[in-house]
Amino acid sequence: MKYLVTGCAGFIGYHLTKFLIKKNINVIGIDSINNYYDPQLKKDRLKDILKDKKKFKFYKVNLCHKNKLKRIFKKHKFDYIIHLAAQAGVRYSMKNPFSYIDNNILSTTNILELCKEKPPKKILFASSSSVYGLQKSKSFNENQNTNTPISFYAASKISMEAIAHSYSHLYNIPIKVLRLFTVYGPWGRPDMAYFNFTKKIIKNEKIDIFNRGDHFRDFTYVSDIIRFIDIILKKKVNKKFEILNLGSNNPKKLGLFIELIEKKLNKKSIKNYIEKQSGDMHGTHADMKKSINNYNLRYKVDLEKGINQFIDWYIDYKKIKKI
Ligand SMILES: NC(=O)c1ccc[n+]([C@@H]2O[C@H](COP(=O)([O-])OP(=O)(O)OC[C@H]3O[C@@H](n4cnc5c(N)ncnc54)[C@H](O)[C@@H]3O)[C@@H](O)[C@H]2O)c1
Repeated sequence: MKYLVTGCAGFIGYHLTKFLIKKNINVIGIDSINNYYDPQLKKDRLKDILKDKKKFKFYKVNLCHKNKLKRIFKKHKFDYIIHLAAQAGVRYSMKNPFSYIDNNILSTTNILELCKEKPPKKILFASSSSVYGLQKSKSFNENQNTNTPISFYAASKISMEAIAHSYSHLYNIPIKVLRLFTVYGPWGRPDMAYFNFTKKIIKNEKIDIFNRGDHFRDFTYVSDIIRFIDIILKKKVNKKFEILNLGSNNPKKLGLFIELIEKKLNKKSIKNYIEKQSGDMHGTHADMKKSINNYNLRYKVDLEKGINQFIDWYIDYKKIKKI
């Protein structure tokens, strides 16, 4: 069995690769190690993965380069592909939409083109809760339409989902689209609020809080996401194309998230309240009925425990002696 993990030096890709290697699975990882955020963190994640060289082979390749990708596909026959590489970030998509065309739309199409002749057993694609855009309902389910994105990031993920559906239909490729809801945890992304808040509270710097911390997110701990991915990879469900929400079904206000960081650090934040940013959704709430019915995906890690584990990692990784 051979698995391809794209974006293996990214936050979720790192955790998934470690998990698969531990289960004695051969993993080929691809990542361009781009500099959207500090590449040193990506290199450190890779260094940690590379401790087990026998089960892991890494290619520093940009998925936009179809010929390089073609060579990798010629050399390895993949049983499963988990495509996580992407340009993430809602706010950055206003500054640099073309990065989303390249890294989300073109990259995904390149992978699908290389799968159409001999499809793998399954391809999993990372999409996002942001595709629900202006939906007004209390929680988001997979049957709702996704034609009101409010950021270019969301628009690029909706495009990717549509492209994946067309390839699945035309070439009989089994595809699962995973709509991830605000994933957090150790080795996380420095561009995300919880990472930034922790860093600034420790340094006694002001934290910018949009919308008075009133918006809410379906925060999902990374180990739960990895467990869900493992179950989806293993279970046989007779559907060629499937879209699934992966969340906690337990939305919490950003304000509470900050309180829990303060509690763990035993330190108050200095708050700077600012307007809601355009492109940001007010709230996200994963309806998990379909994921539970089809795969029995049940969320485990509660928010306080998850935050504490992130902060323990952060203090250790940054070698912080005094808070
Ligand atoms: N973390 C979350 O909260 C969250 C929420 C919803 C969706 N997602 C999606 O999950 C996936 C993983 O997210 P993450 O948080 O681990 O992000 P990340 O930015 O940490 O990881 C993405 C990795 O992909 C790599 N990459 C980007 N473009 C590439 C390309 N063209 N070729 C090769 N490598 C490339 C980057 O260098 C990076 O290491 C992404 O598709 C993201 O959109 C994440």
